[in-house]
Amino acid sequence: MAIYTIEKNERICEAAEIYRLTFKAPDITAKASAGQIIHIVCGGDANSLRRPISICECDGDSVIICFEVRGAGTRELAARGAGDTIDVIGPYGKGFPILSGKVALVGGGIGIYPLISAAKAVKAAGGEPVALLGFRNKELMNMTDTFDNYCDKVMIATDDGSYGHHGFVTAILEQYLDENPDASVFVCGPRGMMAAVSKISLEKGNECYVSMEERMGCGVGACLACVCKTQFVGNEGKGEKYTRVCVDGPVFNAKEVIWE
Ligand SMILES: Cc1cc2nc3c(=O)[nH]c(=O)nc-3n(C[C@H](O)[C@H](O)[C@H](O)COP(=O)(O)OP(=O)(O)OC[C@H]3O[C@@H](n4cnc5c(N)ncnc54)[C@H](O)[C@@H]3O)c2cc1C
Ligand code: FES
Repeated sequence: MAIYTIEKNERICEAAEIYRLTFKAPDITAKASAGQIIHIVCGGDANSLRRPISICECDGDSVIICFEVRGAGTRELAARGAGDTIDVIGPYGKGFPILSGKVALVGGGIGIYPLISAAKAVKAAGGEPVALLGFRNKELMNMTDTFDNYCDKVMIATDDGSYGHHGFVTAILEQYLDENPDASVFVCGPRGMMAAVSKISLEKGNECYVSMEERMGCGVGACLACVCKTQFVGNEGKGEKYTRVCVDGPVFNAKEVIWE
């Protein structure tokens, strides 16, 4: 457990209660890798379980997270401001691989945030990240400027057609993969969208990594609250097992994940 001081906490979307919170934590930034998570104590009416949030970006000694208010915990977090403290453990989990080729970062809704640190890491490794981001409508778009900073191209899809491609982000992914058959895919977003992206990518023969989201308890691998179904290939053949998202993920090779 460590207590840090919040530098900034600002609302970044008028249409939804989405906040970008920055706190100084050199011990976290020194070891964090793209796609990892931290676990935060939230006060107010929230129960005592820490809330898992992805690291959006490390900027010097500072950690940046973006979160949407969903319940008591995130509501209490939203009310904190510069100078207040935050109780955090982490970083935990296995993040995205650092690839130096073409990478399509496919994000939906609040799933876009861990893809920012992934874009930064791929760019730093000499790769060519492009972002394919899906939102319900134009009003819910946020953090796209930050993707612009790290990505060669940012393509947007909105469900209602109010901005960019009219429809799901999977349509622009299919086109991108047809034009870039050697690209890898990183995806984070709603479960159905991640399952569709995995299917498209694997069927086209592209490598794909998914950042899974499950409700969490302990956050450190002890309680098994966060398991997802995966498959393994062993000496005895193929099988299914339950894998902990908090420490064995959140990022998995899409080939391993069993969607049901
Ligand atoms: C690996 C991982 C990374 C995450 N990264 C982010 C992030 O970067 N930004 C962000 O805004 N949120 C992220 N989340 C989701 C975030 O943890 C939850 O929104 C938060 O715990 C809700 O806490 P609360 O006290 O506000 O709401 P609660 O009162 O605990 O729940 C409110 C509502 O949110 C739903 N909910 C809570 N947790 C989850 C969850 N894990 N998955 C789906 N629905 C949930 C509940 O079903 C309920 O309807 C992440 C979750 C995981 C597992
Ligand atoms: S949250 Fe307890 S094992 Fe993952």
